[in-house]
Amino acid sequence: MAQRFTKSLIGAAFIALTALGVASSVHAAGGEQEIEHLDWGFNGIGGTYDRAAMQRGYQVYREVCAACHALEHLSFRHLGDKGGPFYNPDYPNPNDNPDVKAMAKDWSVIDIDSDNGDEIDRPGIPADKFPSIFPNEPAARASNGGAYPPDLSLITKARSGGSDYLYSMLVGYKDAPAGVEMSEGMSFNTAFSGNQIAMAPPLSEDIVEYAPTFVPGDHGEGLQEIAAPAASVEQMARDVTEFLTWAGDPKMEVRKKIGFATFLYLLIFSLLLFLTYKQIWKGVKH
Ligand code: HEC
Repeated sequence: MAQRFTKSLIGAAFIALTALGVASSVHAAGGEQEIEHLDWGFNGIGGTYDRAAMQRGYQVYREVCAACHALEHLSFRHLGDKGGPFYNPDYPNPNDNPDVKAMAKDWSVIDIDSDNGDEIDRPGIPADKFPSIFPNEPAARASNGGAYPPDLSLITKARSGGSDYLYSMLVGYKDAPAGVEMSEGMSFNTAFSGNQIAMAPPLSEDIVEYAPTFVPGDHGEGLQEIAAPAASVEQMARDVTEFLTWAGDPKMEVRKKIGFATFLYLLIFSLLLFLTYKQIWKGVKH
């Protein structure tokens, strides 16, 4: 009886392992989606965002991606929130932050002229939302050969693989392998599902000219200068991914801090409860 049970257990384990092996080899052979796993600083329970990378990532978004992609859930002032890319301890209210003001001003926002009700373009202010690039989806499709460039505010949440996927997609442009028929206007991409994407490679070496960034010190000191790295495709992909990961989850650092504190509290509480139990039942026979 016991022997039969052991045999069937070994059999089941064997079948499971074989199935697992087949599944992973199918994945590798099909060349479907190749997603690189990076060692992001925001992973793990104590994870934090890299401010300098987020600032450079904003520059990449502004100068490259914003030509086609909106960021509709974000306002300019969010850039200067505590935990945001351009937070400055001297300006706890992001509406006063001169960097945020300058960045908002660099965008043009549609408004109504209060004198005559006409539609006008004016420079942005921190309280404005990032303006849409296209007035509506058909207009966006018409400018992109029929394909729709999705809003990027929540993109790392919306795609399986999250930040790893976004990075891999941005660096995943390759020449189509021999025998692969490409449709018109499509580029071969190793991370995109189906490998044919309607977005031409957006990044090329030195497409942005990185300036040095300034981030607050770890111990509340003023802003410290961080030298600009070379603007390689990988570096820009990493930086814009850091920025868009923050845009999709700006409260992540606070949430992780509270989570850890709660865990510690419960641990100490359980320990005290156990000691109390021991004390109360001391000397009682059971
Ligand atoms: C010239 C216009 C254009 C620019 C510039 C551009 N994109 Fe795109 N993007 C598109 C279009 C069009 C699509 C839709 C592609 C499709 O569905 O095949 C797309 C799709 C995407 C997607 C969705 C992929 C998916 O899994 O569905 C992401 C993410 C993305 N772009 C990120 C970026 C980032 C980051 C940048 C800047 C570095 C950028 N794009 C620059 C036009 C653009």
